[in-house]
Amino acid sequence: MANTAMAETRDFRWWERGIIYQIYPRSFLDSNSDGIGDLPGIQSKLDYLQWLGVDAIWISPIFTSPMADFGYDISNYTDIDPVFGTLKDFDALVTDAHRRGLKVLLDYVPNHTSDQHPWFLESRSSRHNGKRGWYLWRDAKPDGSPPNNWLATFGGPAWQWDEQTGQYYYHAFLKEQPDLDWRNPEVQQAMLDVMRFWLDRGVDGFRVDVMHHMLKDRDLRDNPRNPDWRPGLNPYRELLATHTVDLPEVQEIVAKMRAVLEEYRDRMMVGEIYLPVERIMAYYGASGEGAHLPFNFQLIGLAWNARDIAAAVERYEALLPSFGWPNWVLGNHDRPRIATRVGTAQARVAAMMLLTLRGTPTMYYGDEIGMHNVPIPADKVQDPFEKNVPGLGLGRDPERSPMQWDSSAHAGFTCSTPWLPIAEDFTDINVAAARSDPASILSLYKRLIEIRRAETALSVGDFAHLPAGDDLMAYVRKAGDRRILVVLNLGNNRRRFNLGELACSCRLLLSTHLDRSPIVLENDVALRPDEGLLIELI
Ligand code: NOJ
Repeated sequence: MANTAMAETRDFRWWERGIIYQIYPRSFLDSNSDGIGDLPGIQSKLDYLQWLGVDAIWISPIFTSPMADFGYDISNYTDIDPVFGTLKDFDALVTDAHRRGLKVLLDYVPNHTSDQHPWFLESRSSRHNGKRGWYLWRDAKPDGSPPNNWLATFGGPAWQWDEQTGQYYYHAFLKEQPDLDWRNPEVQQAMLDVMRFWLDRGVDGFRVDVMHHMLKDRDLRDNPRNPDWRPGLNPYRELLATHTVDLPEVQEIVAKMRAVLEEYRDRMMVGEIYLPVERIMAYYGASGEGAHLPFNFQLIGLAWNARDIAAAVERYEALLPSFGWPNWVLGNHDRPRIATRVGTAQARVAAMMLLTLRGTPTMYYGDEIGMHNVPIPADKVQDPFEKNVPGLGLGRDPERSPMQWDSSAHAGFTCSTPWLPIAEDFTDINVAAARSDPASILSLYKRLIEIRRAETALSVGDFAHLPAGDDLMAYVRKAGDRRILVVLNLGNNRRRFNLGELACSCRLLLSTHLDRSPIVLENDVALRPDEGLLIELI
């Protein structure tokens, strides 16, 4: 395999070896009793993250914002929203994180600003304002209707009428999130300078929001209908986003962002791109001048069965360009939690998969203690997506519930009323309880992270898929002479895996159940329901 030699010879960067941990800041820890998490709260939990063993934190947006989309609507890119703290708090957090060897990634939201951003306020003030061309303003059709049929991701048309200046503006998300026009060189300059502002302050890189959205068709052609759409499905999916996302020219913008990162040492970006996997590959850049990691969301979208997942992993490995480093994700602040999707028992198998596949893992806060989606009563809904398009299960509040730290009031997250309800079972499922239980999912995550760190084969080694029976997925990770076999039972029946053909001695390293001792295995191994095994091949 081409990357075998690489694993042995080349130097790997921190973002290739390391593990990224996503923090949704509103929900991590509230230090000032307003019910909303904040930067000092995050800083006070760096001990925990260091104990857990992750390498980098990615913090979802913390910038000045009216919070129409909870920080993804930014009104000042170079300041911290008071709800999260101050620039001083931010500097203290970065200094402390770096002192502990933790990298810090920020969320960079280039596609749109808030409608309260001074750039947009100027832009909408008059057709002749110098910032008019910073956003996408277009005339109505002769009958007064929007320029074309484009839809907004969070429901309704993507064009908002502006009475005062008599034109529509385009917004891919909420009407409070007008899209910038990235074809405008002034926009490019201003937005690339935003990156420099934070890089100069010491951040180690960015997660780039909806990277594939940044350019739209110049001719404003209508998007085609989606033949697979039916009423009751997400209304945005009624059209295919042919002319609104993933335009080939977007790669030029991505390369400009990359060039900014290259002005500094050892900085990186991971792009948020929801596209079929073969289209994701373009975001590495034709020769590596794109994103360091275009997020690979396959484990979020695929049905949880061994055959489909094994096939997807193989395909992804095969499609990767020679210079492309892989990555894997189980969940984030926009998608249902892994424990809800696959169940509490399988969540442990998923943890082993995430931390042993080839590529950088990104963990979502709380998944390490098995947090699940929290049902949100109608009167407590916060997410604008659920408010705009209710009842279809699209709302994202359930996966954003506050972190469960301990069994005290409000799970130790806040001393006042939390901004979102806390899971009812927090007295059982919380960090304090899980830390003192040697068999907890948290103990499993910690152990997996330790082993991954100690074993080059797991962090950066070669990957080879092995055939396995029903419900089983098996692969070997290898660096030099060191080989580690991973066998995962994605079902809830007992299964056997044949070791005979491997022609070597096998020693059990770890079971996801954390209850097996390191014995030598003969001929074949039995896996219990929902069990994953790490096995040394000697
Ligand atoms: C993707 C982000 O992850 C999501 O939370 C946000 O609502 C949209 N982009 C718009 O910025």
